[in-house]
Amino acid sequence: MNILAILGSPRKGGNTSILLDRAVEAARAEGGEVETVNACRLRIRPCEEIYQCRKNAQCPLRDDMQALYPKLLSADGIIFASPIFFYGITAQAKALVDRCQALYMRKHVLKWPPVNAGPRHGVFLSVGGTRGENLFGGAVLTVRYFFDAIDVEYTGELLIRRIDEKGEILEHPDLLEQGIGAGPPAGAGLAGSARGAAHRPRRCARVTVWPIVVGGCAACRRPSRSAL
Ligand SMILES: Cc1cc2nc3c(=O)[nH]c(=O)nc-3n(C[C@H](O)[C@H](O)[C@H](O)COP(=O)(O)O)c2cc1C
Repeated sequence: MNILAILGSPRKGGNTSILLDRAVEAARAEGGEVETVNACRLRIRPCEEIYQCRKNAQCPLRDDMQALYPKLLSADGIIFASPIFFYGITAQAKALVDRCQALYMRKHVLKWPPVNAGPRHGVFLSVGGTRGENLFGGAVLTVRYFFDAIDVEYTGELLIRRIDEKGEILEHPDLLEQGIGAGPPAGAGLAGSARGAAHRPRRCARVTVWPIVVGGCAACRRPSRSAL
């Protein structure tokens, strides 16, 4: 199983990067082959709406996206990780997503067959500093639409509120350990189908997304009334 892990946080050693590292470790422990790309270190220009992609599914902008397109099309799984910036994903992560308009055209307009006919699974990892009820709403919509464009099923998420300072997630080892762990034994079910079962922790609901397990902490999900 080839997994593409995409980091969208510009902060070195930041919370999203720590979360993603854990997910990558867990995926590798289950035998997944993982490649990590850092959207903030790549040269990815924003979409310029040239719309050449409508004709041939190719983006004419020459930058690091060109090497990424085949990986996005062929991976068996995608782990997409971005912190919340102004109720969305970061600009760097969004530039990558917007450039996938070429892959949207490939699938929905040109109706070309998938490179990897799947099943392909995608997981979204995110953290935000505050506790608003709708904190992840915009980002989740973006990532769902992104996954659809690249023919990946949105099968799991780990969304953690109230984590703000650099590396603060490390002060919550329970969240890290309960949120991301090794998956169930091979063959025990794919893609968000198992909630709990043998892996049910005391405080967190888990979603199994082979080969990693992600889930949120119920306590962290509880929003304050006054927050957005
Ligand atoms: C430009 C910017 C915008 C942010 N916007 C939000 C926001 O809308 N809501 C929120 O809860 N936190 C917001 N934050 C806080 C980050 O989500 C939080 O610090 C997070 O832990 C950063 O993750 P990282 O360490 O992985 O980069 C923002 C931070 C920055 C720098």
